[in-house]
Amino acid sequence: MSPTSPDSLTIRRPDDWHVHLRDGAMLATVLPFTARQFARAIIMPNLADPVTTPEKAAAYRRRIVAHLPDEAPGDAFQPLMTCYLTDDTDPAQLEQGFLDGVFTAAKLYPAHATTGSAHGVTEPLALTAVYETMQILGMPLLVHGEVTDPAVDIFDREAVFIDGVLSKIVRDFPNLRVVLEHVTTRDGIDFVTSQSGPVGATITAHHLLLNRNALFEGGIRPHYYCLPVAKREEHRQALIAAATSGNEKFFLGTDTAPHPIGEKESACGCAGIFTAPAALALYAEAFEAAGALDKLEAFASLNGPKFYDLEVNQGTVTLERAETPVPERIDVPGVGAVHPFRGGANVAWKIKAT
Ligand code: DOR
Ligand code: ZN
Repeated sequence: MSPTSPDSLTIRRPDDWHVHLRDGAMLATVLPFTARQFARAIIMPNLADPVTTPEKAAAYRRRIVAHLPDEAPGDAFQPLMTCYLTDDTDPAQLEQGFLDGVFTAAKLYPAHATTGSAHGVTEPLALTAVYETMQILGMPLLVHGEVTDPAVDIFDREAVFIDGVLSKIVRDFPNLRVVLEHVTTRDGIDFVTSQSGPVGATITAHHLLLNRNALFEGGIRPHYYCLPVAKREEHRQALIAAATSGNEKFFLGTDTAPHPIGEKESACGCAGIFTAPAALALYAEAFEAAGALDKLEAFASLNGPKFYDLEVNQGTVTLERAETPVPERIDVPGVGAVHPFRGGANVAWKIKAT
C-alpha cells in the first residue's frame, strides 16, 4: 500500500451535481443506486412533461422521496430540484420557486440539443430577464452547452456554443452563477478556468474514461453514445487534468441517463449513459489512473457544495479496492431493462457497507 495507490480510500460523503432519475418504474429502479452513494443530487428536469413550474418540481420531488430506499446510509438522500427553462419562463415564478426552496437551480437546454429538450430555449441569448433575476437571487444557471445548428460539426458544438453564446451570457451577467454541465472539451475547460466570476463545470465519469474511439470500437457502440458526445483523446486529457487539479470550479456530475436497452440499441438510439450503479468507483478508477486519488474528495465532496453555497455533508464513504462486477442488465418492471456502464464486467473499487 503506497500513498498513491491505497487499498482503501475514505472521503467525505459526496454529492452528484447532475442526475437524470426519470419517473415511474424507471425512477424506482435507478434511484437506489444514486441514493446509496450520494447524499444530494441535482435532479434534471427533462421529463416527458418537463418540470417547468414550482408545482411540478414539488410533485416530482415527492415522487422521488416516495421511492427512496429505507436503508440509504447516513443523512437521508436529498433531491435538489431544477426548473426547465423555456421561452416562456416567468422570472417572477422562477424567483418564487427559488425563494420557497423548491428550485435549487434552473437548467438551460437549447431547444433540440439533446434528449427531452424539445421544449427548451430557442434563443438562449434572449432570456435576459430570467438571467437578470437569477443573478440577483444568486440562483445557479445550469447550461447544456451545445449549439443546435445541424450545419455545425457535432464534435464542435460545445466550442461553438461557448464562443457564440456562453461567453456572452457570462460577459453580460458577470455575477450570474453558471455551471457548464458535462464539459467535454479543452475549450470548455479553458473557458471555465479563465473566468474570474462564479463559473464552474461538472465532469462525468464517462467523459473521464472514454474518448470518441470508444463509440466505434469494433462496431457501433450505442451504450457509449451520449450528448455532448465524447471527444478526441486530447480533450479527455484536459478533463482529467481539470478534475484532478483541485481547482474548485470543477466538480462531480455523473449525467447518469438511463434509457431502456431497446431505445439504445436501435437504428436511432437515444443519447445517454447509465453510470449510476458504479459511479463513484468509475471516478476512482479515472483519478487513480491519473495518480490523483488524493484529489477525489475535493472533486466529489467539497467543490460542489462550495459552488452551490451549501454545507458539505456529514459522514464519510469508504471505497475498497476489490474487483466488483457490474450487472449486465437491470430489469425495469413494465419497461424492459437498462444496461449500466461497465455492465457485464468489473470495476476496481467497491463501496464499503456501512
Ligand atoms: O446523453 C445525454 N442524455 N445527454 C443529455 O443532455 C440528456 C441525457 C438524457 O436525458 O438522456
Ligand atoms: Zn444530463
